[in-house]
Amino acid sequence: MAAPVPSPGSAASRAVAAAARLADEPADHRFKGLPPNAADRTLGELAAERRSLFTGGFTTPVLALSAERLEHNLTALADYTARHGLAFAPHGKTSMAPQLFARQLQHGAWGITLAVPHQVRVARAYGVPRIFLANELVDAAALRWLAAELDADPDFRLVCYVDSPQGVALMDEALRAAGARRPVEVVIELGAGAGARTGARTQAECAAVAEAVAATGTLRLVGVAGYEGEVPDADLAAVRGWLRQLAEVAAALDAAGHFADAEEIVVSAGGSAWFDAVADAFAELPELSAPVLKLLRSGAYVSHDDGHYHRLTPFNRHPDEGALQAAFTLWTQVVSRPEAGQAFLNAGKRDAAYDLELPQPYAVRGTDGTVRPATGLAVTGLNDQHARVRVEEGTALEVGEWVGLGMSHPCTIFDKWQAIPVADADGTVTDLIRTFF
Ligand SMILES: Cc1ncc(COP(=O)(O)O)c(C=O)c1O
Repeated sequence: MAAPVPSPGSAASRAVAAAARLADEPADHRFKGLPPNAADRTLGELAAERRSLFTGGFTTPVLALSAERLEHNLTALADYTARHGLAFAPHGKTSMAPQLFARQLQHGAWGITLAVPHQVRVARAYGVPRIFLANELVDAAALRWLAAELDADPDFRLVCYVDSPQGVALMDEALRAAGARRPVEVVIELGAGAGARTGARTQAECAAVAEAVAATGTLRLVGVAGYEGEVPDADLAAVRGWLRQLAEVAAALDAAGHFADAEEIVVSAGGSAWFDAVADAFAELPELSAPVLKLLRSGAYVSHDDGHYHRLTPFNRHPDEGALQAAFTLWTQVVSRPEAGQAFLNAGKRDAAYDLELPQPYAVRGTDGTVRPATGLAVTGLNDQHARVRVEEGTALEVGEWVGLGMSHPCTIFDKWQAIPVADADGTVTDLIRTFF
């Protein structure tokens, strides 16, 4: 299914046009896995040749993103958020791919969430008009750049976390020194509990941060936010409890008049593991003094995975609401079978996600092009450039065959690859996704 066509002049169409520039880059040695005999083409020309991932000269290891599954996932969360009255700012740190940011905007996203200033610069370089920076920002050089970026483009909107009066003071000082003309919109981050990550821990601390923001001329308080994925020992009850606290903080700050300068009040939470709880909690938010932008920030959904998120997706609890599909395959090649029961693939930590669990073989492509299930194979360890595979007795596996691996954790799959072939189900490569980590 084709992505929705953005209306001319819209934010999505500007991001699509900006990302299209990436097609002009040379498809050369800088990018792992691309065909050596395409080095004189651009990425766009290579995609236009519609080569086969398997026989078109791509070299192993090569990471492939399924065109159909990617589109399925983009549509699934766009539909889910629309159905639940949520605005969507998918977390862009997952892919760091301007072409995917543009696709997410085409699918109706409000903007893109990011974590650190470099990521914001990438998004701005590729025309993303609205950014939710889900992190504290106390770096004076980055704030100087941000102030200039905001002043240069009245259509650029950035909303950023704050969680302490000290952080607020540093932001204020840096923005004043930069001569910032537009205030930076901020939301107070509520931490996900004792021992969790960033974020003020109590309502009183949130109020103190709000007072500190009010005392600046450079910041404008527009809401509250946090990340339920960091709730210690998270289960549905604990996540729901934390979301209730977030709603209480929003209501208390609103009642105290802290959002008086906000045209809309931003309330944001939500990754890819608990968006059902977020949708429920946001549906029950109390009425506030201005319209509420209920902002979900899932990132991993875009490629989904064969491990962690496969187990955790809320669609397991709500199959009637949709499903996600694991869209990555890391195609590797058997380079050695030095002992019975042992095989080595030519992909390792440089190529595969391994921070949550090891990759799993799921398909073998024989040298004659036939594909069979990878029954009897298991990855037992990774070196930098090798995967060690246990081969059960009686399992056929030859040097030269390709082994397709499924992986766990989208963020650490994307970040190993700077140009990722997008392939149709029959292996035809139709696009190359450029990433910036
Ligand atoms: C603050 C914040 N928001 C949203 C997300 C997205 O969550 P997920 O990766 O589960 O999609 C993350 C992920 O780490 C995050 O740290």
